[in-house]
Amino acid sequence: MTDTGARREVLRLENVVKNLSLGRVTIHVLRGIDMSVYEGEKLAIVGPSGSGKSTLLGLMGGLDNPTEGHIFIDGTDVTTMREGRLAELRNDKIGFVFQFFNLLPTLTALENVALPLQFARNKRFSPEKRAKELLEMLGLKDRLKHRPTELSGGEQQRVAIARALANNPALLMADEPTGNLDSASGEVVLRALDDVQRETGATVILVTHDQQVAQRMDRILTLVDGRLVDGEG
Ligand SMILES: Nc1ncnc2c1ncn2[C@@H]1O[C@H](COP(=O)(O)OP(=O)(O)OP(=O)(O)O)[C@@H](O)[C@H]1O
Ligand SMILES: [Mg+2]
Repeated sequence: MTDTGARREVLRLENVVKNLSLGRVTIHVLRGIDMSVYEGEKLAIVGPSGSGKSTLLGLMGGLDNPTEGHIFIDGTDVTTMREGRLAELRNDKIGFVFQFFNLLPTLTALENVALPLQFARNKRFSPEKRAKELLEMLGLKDRLKHRPTELSGGEQQRVAIARALANNPALLMADEPTGNLDSASGEVVLRALDDVQRETGATVILVTHDQQVAQRMDRILTLVDGRLVDGEG
């Protein structure tokens, strides 16, 4: 992206460390991450399997707490925020696409996508209409009534993306959003992300192992063994 003066920082990580313990062993998943993300940016996070990409994205999305360090979303330190307030912030500002979808099994595709809209404090859209539009945009207009077990992996992934887009999030985070898709469906997803980004000015952060997908972003960060390494990947 072109740098036209002051860019607004929407996300900042300061010395973010994440350790996990497995029995007596401590796993150093993230070893001190410092980074900023600016409004409207499209950012790719790449790196080998196990390098900490999903962990990092989850922390950025306020889904988990770091062991050390601070994470600021729109200038607010989310690491010290109470869970109730954080849940509100997530629903207002963040759309999250999980690597393994996390769709609710008893709900249809339409109901899964409409769900975050029902929790929104400012009802900007009619939940059902908005959910239908998003599912149509992602090529699923004939799958509205299907439950996750009645959908293919790629279809579930697209439902998960529609759900993340439902509230027009300022920050859209997606963990391998094209990981289960053939190239045509992957293209539909990337176009949907582009459209949303263009229309709403959202900031998009995605984790991918696909170099072609990464190259379409404005900036690429590479994670190796829990550290960001220099250079555009
Ligand atoms: N709950 C957990 N307990 C212990 N170790 C964990 C836990 N969750 C993740 N890890 C470890 O943390 C490391 C980073 O995991 P993470 O899921 O962030 O990797 P990733 O870069 O997303 O990998 P992939 O590309 O395979 O999705 C891995 O070595 C993993 O085994
Ligand atoms: Mg992962």
